Amino acid sequence: MTDHSTRPSWQYKLVAVLACASMAVAVGCSTPSGADEAPDKPIEEPRDHDQHHHHDHGDEAGHHDHSFDDPEEYAQRWNAPERDQWQQPEAIIEAMGIEEGMTVADIGAGTGYFIPFLSEAVGENGTVIAVDVEESMLQFIEEMANEKGLTNVETRLPGEGESGLDEASVDRILIVNTWHHIPNREEYSAHLRERLIDGGSVWNVDFHEDSPAGPPPQHRLAPEVVVAEMEAGGFTAEVHELRLERQYIVVATVE
Ligand SMILES: C[S@@+](CC[C@H](N)C(=O)[O-])C[C@H]1O[C@@H](n2cnc3c(N)ncnc32)[C@H](O)[C@@H]1O
Repeated sequence: MTDHSTRPSWQYKLVAVLACASMAVAVGCSTPSGADEAPDKPIEEPRDHDQHHHHDHGDEAGHHDHSFDDPEEYAQRWNAPERDQWQQPEAIIEAMGIEEGMTVADIGAGTGYFIPFLSEAVGENGTVIAVDVEESMLQFIEEMANEKGLTNVETRLPGEGESGLDEASVDRILIVNTWHHIPNREEYSAHLRERLIDGGSVWNVDFHEDSPAGPPPQHRLAPEVVVAEMEAGGFTAEVHELRLERQYIVVATVE
């Protein structure tokens, strides 16, 4: 089930770990030390409620030193049933045109909120590939898939600057609340373009500027920025018409 053949350098992994500290609130939840925060409460910057657990490294994304090795803790928030209401996973999957037998990747899969939905959509002849730079997240997803009997789920630990996906191998790529963590996004976009088979597309779901949940405002990306980054990688991109309560969707296709 697991392909861990490529591994990020420790520096890359550290950046990813720090990246997610700021995203601990990004799916309507708090960092572990702010564990009492309800998913629908307005979200504060991590440093406001977690300041004794990290320091600012001053990197481009403002990421924080924060251990991210407890998926079970995060899953209580990221996989909370209340999330369905604003996340609308089935509507996203329908918009994505996912069909039985397809191969679909979830990049930055985290605690696997989308995995059961994707698994059902592609069916037993399809494949879901969960990609994450945190090995503990992938282990969590593998355990979840085993428990739920999801036999079409694989996991991949990517190398630095890439996705772990093979060239021309996937029909759809879903990236939720993760894009702003990815360094060198224009290059990464070009990398993703090469992973798609003909007719494939990338679906980038991220928080509106004024969403009550999400990363600190200064780290949020306007949809126009994501469109431009995807186009720089060779895609045709646009904001999708499906309007979610808290997030926009940028869809990138290959002409
Ligand atoms: C806020 S979580 C979102 C998880 C999930 N997509 C969701 O919406 O519940 C961001 C995830 O992206 C992962 N991540 C960060 N940088 C990444 C990268 N360059 N490639 C793949 N995953 C990455 C983190 O480890 C983390 O699990």
